[in-house]
Amino acid sequence: MKFAVRPQIHGYETFAQFAEAHRVTNRDLIFTQRILHESFMQGSPAQTLFYDDFCGGEPTDVAVDAMLVAVHKLGFERLIAIGGGSILDCAKMLALDSEDNVAGLFKAGVQPGRKVGLMLVPTTCGTGCEVTCVSVLDFPGIGSKMGKGFDAGFADHAVLIDEMLSKIPYYVFATSSADALVHALEIYLAPTANAYTDMFCMAAARAILQGYRRIVEHGRDVIQQDAKSYLAASNMAGIALANVLAGGVHAIAMHFGSAHHVPHGEATRLFLPAVFKVYFEKEPAGKIADIARLIEEALGLPAGRENPFDALDRLLAEVVPTKQLSQYGMAEGDIRVYADKVIETQQRLLVNNYVPLSASDIAGIYSRLM
Ligand SMILES: [Fe+2]
Repeated sequence: MKFAVRPQIHGYETFAQFAEAHRVTNRDLIFTQRILHESFMQGSPAQTLFYDDFCGGEPTDVAVDAMLVAVHKLGFERLIAIGGGSILDCAKMLALDSEDNVAGLFKAGVQPGRKVGLMLVPTTCGTGCEVTCVSVLDFPGIGSKMGKGFDAGFADHAVLIDEMLSKIPYYVFATSSADALVHALEIYLAPTANAYTDMFCMAAARAILQGYRRIVEHGRDVIQQDAKSYLAASNMAGIALANVLAGGVHAIAMHFGSAHHVPHGEATRLFLPAVFKVYFEKEPAGKIADIARLIEEALGLPAGRENPFDALDRLLAEVVPTKQLSQYGMAEGDIRVYADKVIETQQRLLVNNYVPLSASDIAGIYSRLM
C-alpha cells in the first residue's frame, strides 16, 4: 500500500490574493483561456499563453505539439496553468524538460524531469487533475483518448480559488462535478483502493451527492454557496485518483468520448449508473454496499426499498441531463465494435474494475443506453 498527497494545496478567495501570496511577476507564464484572463487576471504582470490559440475543445496530440513548439521559444521560471482539466493536463507536459513531441513523450518508459516550477489552478470542480500527474489527450489518428502519468507532472502547488467558480457555465459545473463523483465512486471500488483513498472518496462522494440534492430541492442558486465544498470534493477525489486509477466507467467513457466528441465529464456521467447497476447485480455484498448506503443517506431514502442506483440515475437525470447514445450518433452496429475496442485499448483502467467486465457486459451497457 502506498498513499501520497503530492502538491501543496492552497485555498484563496480571489486571484488577487493568490497573485500576492505567490508573488506573481513577469518571470511567470500564465497558461489559460482568453475569457478567464479577461475575467480574473487583468493587470497581472505575468506573460501569457492562451490555450484557445491552439485548440477549441479537448486537447489533441497535434494541438499539444504546437503548444510545445510555442513554449520552447519563451523564457520563464514558473508555469501557472489556470483552467479546466484540458489546460491543466497540457501544462503538465509543457513544463517538462524535453525537446520531444507528444509521440516521443508518450513512448513507454519516457519520463523527463521538470524544466520550470508548476502551479495548477482549476476553474472547474471535477477532474481533480491539479493533484494528479496524468495527462489525457485525444489521438484522433487512433480514434481514442489516452492518458499517461508523468512523474514530473505533479505540480509544486495546487491552488483552489473560490472566485474561479463564480462564472462557471451550468453545463461545465454539472459535468465536471459529476466526473469528480465518478472518480470517488470508481476508486472506492477499485481492488487497489486503501483506507486512505476510501476516506477521500467517501468524503468527496457525500459532499457532491448532498450538493446535488440541494440543487434539486432549492434550485441552481445554491451552487455558488457550495463552491468551496465542490472545489474541495473534486480535489479530494483527485487525491484518490493520484494514488489509484479509475476503472470501467472511465474506460468506456474514454472511447465513447473520443468517437463522438463528447466532453469527458459528460461521457463519464453518462455511463456511471449503468456500469454500477451491473456491479451491484454481480456482487451486491462487497464494498458497493457502502455506496448504496451512502446514496440512501445522502438522498434521504428509506433503506432497502429500491435499488439505490436507480435513485442515483434519477438524481443525475435532474442535475446532469444527458442523451441516449443513439442521439450522440452511435448506431446498433457499433455496439460490438466499441465493446471490443474498449477491451483492446483501455486495459490500464479495466484492471481496476470492482468485478471484471467482459466485452458482452460492456455491449449490454451500450444496448441499455441506446
Ligand atoms: Fe474523469
